[in-house]
Amino acid sequence: MSGSERRSAERARTFRSRAMTAAVTGEAATAPGFPVAFVDGTFVPVAEAALSVHANAVSYGTGTFEGMRATWNEQARELHLLEPLAHYERMHRSANALALPLAYSAEELVAFTVELLRRNEARSDVYVRPILLLAGEVLPVRMHEIATRFSIAVSRFPARYIDPAGVRCLVSSWRRMPDSTIPLRAKIIGSYVGPALAKSEAVLAGFDEALMLTVDGNLSEATTSNVFLRRGDQWVTPAPDQDILEGITRRQVMELIGEELGERVVERSVDRSELYVCEEALLCGTAVQIVPLVEVDRRPVGDGQPGERTLRLMETLAAIARGEGGRQRGWVTPVWASG
Ligand SMILES: Cc1ncc(COP(=O)(O)O)c(C=O)c1O
Repeated sequence: MSGSERRSAERARTFRSRAMTAAVTGEAATAPGFPVAFVDGTFVPVAEAALSVHANAVSYGTGTFEGMRATWNEQARELHLLEPLAHYERMHRSANALALPLAYSAEELVAFTVELLRRNEARSDVYVRPILLLAGEVLPVRMHEIATRFSIAVSRFPARYIDPAGVRCLVSSWRRMPDSTIPLRAKIIGSYVGPALAKSEAVLAGFDEALMLTVDGNLSEATTSNVFLRRGDQWVTPAPDQDILEGITRRQVMELIGEELGERVVERSVDRSELYVCEEALLCGTAVQIVPLVEVDRRPVGDGQPGERTLRLMETLAAIARGEGGRQRGWVTPVWASG
């Protein structure tokens, strides 16, 4: 081996080892789980909730999941789940789309979640992850006649999931897959590979997040959040037929735009170029909550600062999530006071 070949092999080894270290520490930093999980009707230590490497879903992503948040209010010493019933109702619809049985009603699932948070002594902002998947050790690719498993796990919410001062987005070269390829109204595990590729493409190019277009080139959504733009005197957001996941936060934002801002939202198809000419824009989802979109493809959105209305919506939703909402108090389920 020549000197330059040795140096190049050494560089490759160093790169691989750094990448692996980053992967391991990244995982430890972002997924600090709580000790108790819920699996098929019982509360178990999280180590016992591990899935077999032979489970069908491990290879094929055959299953559906939800993500909800609970927000700790230090003053009230209370943890509030945000719209858990709506998340479990969506999970039922997802299960139905995949023709998978889900043994518990949405109301029962909320009760299990409250109990799980109590058993975990959860007194901080947390993320709740219910998963229904094909756990049977079955090799063929199919949905039918494979044992399912339903679990709920809880992890601490990362202190800074996304910069609340505003996100800079890249329109991804990866398109959002159409509903004709996979049921998009269901939150399907395997459907997140495209968004994961888009997110990495954006982040490794120096952006915070990716926006995905439909195969027809219209705006669909970000990788795990929906998008709203303000044009003139109204807000626009891609309609449900634009291959979006119909977000629960999207519905909340539509209500808050009407009630708090007294403004109108139109659901329609949105051209890519509207991203470059709108006055204000935001992303919304359970993980990001509401966050201002301040730049797209290195062009400022409006004046490049978080929009004034977006900031009002952010504050309003944050207060609701802490259990301090007025009319929207019913959106939260207290964990320690209820039951
Ligand atoms: C692809 C996708 N779009 C949008 C959203 C926002 O949905 P929600 O507000 O229900 O969290 C999510 C998050 O669940 C998502 O994964």
